[in-house]
Amino acid sequence: MAKIIPVDAFDCVVFGATGDLTLRKLLPALYYRFRDGQVPPDARIIGAARSDIGDDGFRKRADTALKHHVAAADLDPDIVSRFCACLHYVRLDATQPDAEWDGLRQMLDQARVRVFYLATSPDLYGPVCRNLGRAGLVTPLSRVVLEKPIGHDLASAREVNNRVGDVFDETQIFRIDHYLGKETVQNLLALRFANSIFERLWTTDVIDHVQITVAETVGLEGRGGYFDKAGVLRDMVQNHLLQLLCLIAMEPPVSLEADRVRDEKLKVLRALRPFEPHDAVALTVRGQYTQGAIDGKPVPGYLADLGTNDPSHTETFVALKAEVRTWRWANVPFYLRTGKRLPTKVSEIVVQFRALPFSIFPPEAAEWQPNRLIIRLQPQEGIRLEMMTKDPGPGGLRLSPTGLDIRFDAAFNIRFPDAYERLLMDTVRGNPTLFMRRDEVEAAWAWVEPILDSWAGRPDHPRPYSAGTWGPTAAIALIERDGRTWHEGFE
Ligand code: BG6
Repeated sequence: MAKIIPVDAFDCVVFGATGDLTLRKLLPALYYRFRDGQVPPDARIIGAARSDIGDDGFRKRADTALKHHVAAADLDPDIVSRFCACLHYVRLDATQPDAEWDGLRQMLDQARVRVFYLATSPDLYGPVCRNLGRAGLVTPLSRVVLEKPIGHDLASAREVNNRVGDVFDETQIFRIDHYLGKETVQNLLALRFANSIFERLWTTDVIDHVQITVAETVGLEGRGGYFDKAGVLRDMVQNHLLQLLCLIAMEPPVSLEADRVRDEKLKVLRALRPFEPHDAVALTVRGQYTQGAIDGKPVPGYLADLGTNDPSHTETFVALKAEVRTWRWANVPFYLRTGKRLPTKVSEIVVQFRALPFSIFPPEAAEWQPNRLIIRLQPQEGIRLEMMTKDPGPGGLRLSPTGLDIRFDAAFNIRFPDAYERLLMDTVRGNPTLFMRRDEVEAAWAWVEPILDSWAGRPDHPRPYSAGTWGPTAAIALIERDGRTWHEGFE
């Protein structure tokens, strides 16, 4: 296990301190880092919100949240109480310039790294940053952390970036895409650039196509208000799936320095073939779930989840075919799909190699399957290389596909830290490698926006699919038209 290096004492102000993200993700992540000795006991985590709960009220909420969101075996009452001693609270309406900013200022130490975590609604990013600036709270050692979504299209993303950029330098802005904090996603860099074998195969001569699937079984989980305005293309593709695509498609960066890695990802985003209005039909499929069953249990349809009888044309599923227009990736399609209420939760990348140019084996020797590298991001994280091997035994020559597997849980017998643990510590350390730079976010919107526009201009709506299926059948046709099939996941 990598040695844990403690960070220097820091101040972290969490706006939206009583919200779901803080209680479900941020406090548990900080607790684990505290328990493992990385967050020092004199660090200050200062919750800021409008309700009048005081230090004690915030600590009580944190204690309850930890009981819900940290494994019981990892909760030590003594450590919990020492962790809660790092928590403080300030009552503040951060959207108001004349709020109690002085109170907050007095709690902060000028000499420390200062993290402002905006766990608020995204439309508050601009006003909160402006008030932080006006209140004179932004020091050279300050950082601001923003959650997605950054805007809902290119213009609004630029606007948010401008407002935040009025107050913070780009090097101080940490835009979270929590997929980049997942261990297995970071492992993509190791797989590609710490091993010599794959890089030589990573080219159009050898690779037939790439599939990226992020399937979820959950529906709206109480986020219907946000989701119905966003849809899955904005919610998942614009950020998580495009970031995965970038990590697979990028050229080797010259170093691991944050901007060198982000430069290469940006080049991929800029090399994506722009969608033309007529591409919407041929290259994208959108769907919306209706009632069905997952794991044998009935689940309601999207409108029932939303609690409305009014029609909604928001997509809960999307499949699309993308092209990266570079020498390396010419004629190698990238098929992306993601959706809610699919049969199983799985995120995986399948790199399928080209078929044999010629077979010396008799046709009846095998059901041929081209080699595939399957990178399982979650759950059951692992990597499998599928190869044709001879079935053991005398008699006729038979070949079958067999997997060469690395299962991370078996290889490393440790808890996989949550993405937020890594990302929060990177913020304190000032390492932006795993965060999205402004130009990346905007390039991703620039690619996604024409898809949204062409959907909006069409008379048809998302196709229905029953919850618990792999989306509309048109999504299967999208890839099968090209003589390929979706990988259905390995056990
Ligand atoms: C979030 C999306 O960014 O990612 C959610 O807003 C989605 O809609 C979630 O459920 C999926 O994250 P994970 O880590 O569970 O794959």
